[in-house]
Amino acid sequence: MSAEEQPLPSTEGRDPSREVVDAAPMAEEKAMEAALRPKALGDFVGQQTVRHQLSLVLQSSRLRGAAADHVLLSGPPGLGKTTLAMIIAAEMDASLRVTSGPAIQHSGDLAAILSSLTEGEVLFVDEIHRMARPAEEMLYMAMEDFRVDIVVGKGAGATSIPLELPQFTLVGATTRAGLLPGPLRDRFGFTGHLEYYGVGELEHVLRRSAELLQVQATDAGFAEIASRSRGTPRVTNRLLRRVRDWALVHEVDLVDDDAAAEALDTYEVDRRGLDRLDRAVLEALCSTFRGGPVGLSTLAILVGEETETVETVAEPYLVREGLLARTPRGRVATEAAWRHLGLEPPEQGAPLGGAGSTASSPPASPSSAHSGRSAGSPGPTTEG
Ligand SMILES: Nc1ncnc2c1ncn2[C@@H]1O[C@H](COP(=O)(O)OP(=O)(O)O)[C@@H](O)[C@H]1O
Ligand SMILES: [Mg+2]
Repeated sequence: MSAEEQPLPSTEGRDPSREVVDAAPMAEEKAMEAALRPKALGDFVGQQTVRHQLSLVLQSSRLRGAAADHVLLSGPPGLGKTTLAMIIAAEMDASLRVTSGPAIQHSGDLAAILSSLTEGEVLFVDEIHRMARPAEEMLYMAMEDFRVDIVVGKGAGATSIPLELPQFTLVGATTRAGLLPGPLRDRFGFTGHLEYYGVGELEHVLRRSAELLQVQATDAGFAEIASRSRGTPRVTNRLLRRVRDWALVHEVDLVDDDAAAEALDTYEVDRRGLDRLDRAVLEALCSTFRGGPVGLSTLAILVGEETETVETVAEPYLVREGLLARTPRGRVATEAAWRHLGLEPPEQGAPLGGAGSTASSPPASPSSAHSGRSAGSPGPTTEG
């Protein structure tokens, strides 16, 4: 299996019941995504700042007749990093080589890719923060001086052979820019950070995709889908396909807001884009722990998920929506969370799950069987 074919581990081992709002791509979704990907910078919706800055980088490279500076794209999954990498190659009329951090576990893996690059080619390294350390160091030199030292042999007999590389453009993508070592980050000439999309921008994405998928919808129909899409184009495209399925089966030719709402309710995506797991987290917080604070690991056990899933999949969106807060003592449900669940928040003055509340002694819950910690104690290392 070549480096390019290796799947990203992030798409494996997930809960199928919540895939409809998961920002990571599903395996069988790749072809569909490719079809919906804008091919030119002008078709890329939103992200005005990044788009403008990037267009300057690319125009300058064209005027200079040289490869563009290395580009780092950072931001949460599903916001368009891979799409932008492809656009960069297309706009520069260059071919694109695709690999990913997890596929580069030895410096030899990287050396093989680098030594086969051609002049002006764009090398896209997805999840670049997951590359192995020795390969990272090889990449420093390749990015800066367009050469690498290939070590041949072992021990005392080892020799290093310098290898000149053609001028290429590295495009790195990462969901965790903070995990990139400084020296690597500094070698990118341009860093673009992608932000979540507004509902208006997602409607724009939807209109474009709906035309490609031949789905007819009213403005209100698009707005309904967009508002349940968690600010994420990948999610909005996926919800559109689910709405299309629903409309096809129900013989609805024009999707209005009621139809979109009914379709998405069927898939348990609520009007704020929360799915079953998101609501389970909030319900555990509010009903079982009276709002918290609750340690992450306890919360995860209670909803029957891995700590990491709760932390990386459910939590960011709940925090972003102002439904959940992270405090030094654990997770806390906000007033908005109670209201979203149709519950009355605890009385004003009584601190939300504050000290002395019954929050730290949950009733017979799965958590008491698994952990000797009190409910408010922080999770292992991931707290905060
Ligand atoms: N700005 C955008 N305009 C239109 N479609 C977009 C945009 N950003 C992302 N998409 C769509 O969302 C899907 C996921 O984008 P992708 O680039 O794979 O995200 P990432 O690599 O950041 O996880 C693609 O199918 C793409 O068509
Ligand atoms: Mg991607």
